[in-house]
Amino acid sequence: MQEELLFLEEQKVDNNLIRKVEDFRKEYMVSENAKERVTKPSIPFYGKEILEMAIAALLQGSNLLLSGAKATGKNILAENLAWMFGRPSYNISFNVNTDSSSLIGTDTFRNNEVQLRKGSVYRCAEEGGFGIFDEINMAKNDAASVLHATLDHRRMIDVPGYERIGLHPAARFIGTMNYGYAGTKELNEALVSRFLVIDMPALSEENLVRIIRHDYPDISQEALQAFAGLFLDLQLKAQNSEISTKAVDLRGILSALGTVRIGLKPWQAAQMGVTNKAFDIFEREIVADMVMTRIPEEWTKEQVFG
Ligand SMILES: Nc1ncnc2c1ncn2[C@@H]1O[C@H](COP(=O)(O)OP(=O)(O)OP(=O)(O)O)[C@@H](O)[C@H]1O
Ligand SMILES: [Mg+2]
Repeated sequence: MQEELLFLEEQKVDNNLIRKVEDFRKEYMVSENAKERVTKPSIPFYGKEILEMAIAALLQGSNLLLSGAKATGKNILAENLAWMFGRPSYNISFNVNTDSSSLIGTDTFRNNEVQLRKGSVYRCAEEGGFGIFDEINMAKNDAASVLHATLDHRRMIDVPGYERIGLHPAARFIGTMNYGYAGTKELNEALVSRFLVIDMPALSEENLVRIIRHDYPDISQEALQAFAGLFLDLQLKAQNSEISTKAVDLRGILSALGTVRIGLKPWQAAQMGVTNKAFDIFEREIVADMVMTRIPEEWTKEQVFG
């Protein structure tokens, strides 16, 4: 089996799906100038069911919307999908400055003539790339109208002043969005209707352990249990609405471990990575207690990295 697909086999992803991904890889080549965009993600995505849903959706030609809380692996999943399907990826971040011309292209004056400087959606369409629409719910109307046309069954892009272009058969789009926090926007129904949607689940203990081990292979068993346990405690308390989701942050846990490796005391590291993310004073007290029960104040680096 190809190296890119081994992590699927390791997680016992349905073999039939893996074979179809292999076929897809064989069917569509990547052009020379897009090769550098086929990039290996920093970590495999862990989560068998989610992988199966995502793979099946893309195989049948759908676009995929990944919704969920922060640090639930939305971007990591999108990058892994592009990698396993062997496609160049194009990251397109939506913010107040993203308009239709930044997606499709703009006219520029070059060699004494007006030429189209192709935007990332254009290039993705041409190369059969996987376009990752990051924070797609932040798209302004002007950008959203490009998405409406690009993402529906016609698979066409209107380039004002030029010919309309069709999407390469291997091109797919994967949107990511955060929701449910203050400041996050909803996505309008017509746009949602152009995607199959995956709601990113809470992390299981098994996958959490895999992620921590991947980043810190030399972590001690005791510390692994302490830090994973702390994250799971926080996740559960937030699910039960006893705390908000502010301190439930896998990035915080992983970075905290990084500072411990450098030599910081584990309880200090946990303050930065976990406790201080809860800005509400009452909530912070609850979180601080949870940290204390898992990560003894007297621990040093040696308890964590033997
Ligand atoms: N299922 C998973 N498999 C592997 N890594 C994961 C997984 N879930 C989270 N991670 C870890 O969490 C980090 C954050 O993941 P990612 O950036 O994909 O999150 P996100 O959902 O896009 O978050 P945000 O909404 O804040 O942008 C990754 O670098 C990775 O270490
Ligand atoms: Mg993200």
